[in-house]
Amino acid sequence: MSIDTPPITPQQYEVLHGGGAEAAEIAKQRLSRRRFMRRSMLAVWGLSTTAAVAGGLAMLYPNVAAGFGGLVTVGKKTDFPAASKSSDFKKGFTGVFYNQNARTYVIHLAANTSFLLPSAVLGDQLQSETVVKDADGSYWIGLYQRCVHLGCTVPFRDDCSSFKCPCHGSHYNVTGEWLDGPAPRSLDRFSIHFSGSDVVVDTGVLNSKVPHPDTNTRLIAAPTVACSAGG
Ligand code: FES
Repeated sequence: MSIDTPPITPQQYEVLHGGGAEAAEIAKQRLSRRRFMRRSMLAVWGLSTTAAVAGGLAMLYPNVAAGFGGLVTVGKKTDFPAASKSSDFKKGFTGVFYNQNARTYVIHLAANTSFLLPSAVLGDQLQSETVVKDADGSYWIGLYQRCVHLGCTVPFRDDCSSFKCPCHGSHYNVTGEWLDGPAPRSLDRFSIHFSGSDVVVDTGVLNSKVPHPDTNTRLIAAPTVACSAGG
């Protein structure tokens, strides 16, 4: 059915062909219907076009996506002073930083960090644990706050330089590697990258496949100080 020729009844047809005021009224109604239908079509077209343009912009500029589940700019590089020695990691000051929007601990290891692995295999192990090496030689990790045992939020403990879950005691190194407790693997980690001087965590890309480490895969030594009972 064409929008220009809405149907008319046989009676209207007769009147139209007879002319007069009644015919004019019917013609007016037909014109109104045509305008209404055209405007409706234009409105639908406008909404479709707006949705298509928005989708295109999201593809062209993925950094526009924000909030948990997407890209989260957590701060400038200078907001995260690095640490190397186990005892230097202090939440919010050096080496370990929490970002609520990303639900992530940003870990910044200094360039002189002592890794346990030889350089021949270190690069691959860092990559498999989503540890990003920066141009200045330091290392960044975005650890998801969620305990991989049953999902409690894991706090970082300054007193023992590690993550200790308050629910059932799972214990993780500052790099998120499992130390002890019922957790089936190491902490999960988000992809992390830089945009100029900004540090960006991609909370849509989660590495949940870092197993319990062994002597061939553990990156750094376990802390030597035990966590206090009340901490
Ligand atoms: S939820 Fe963390 S140890 Fe059980």
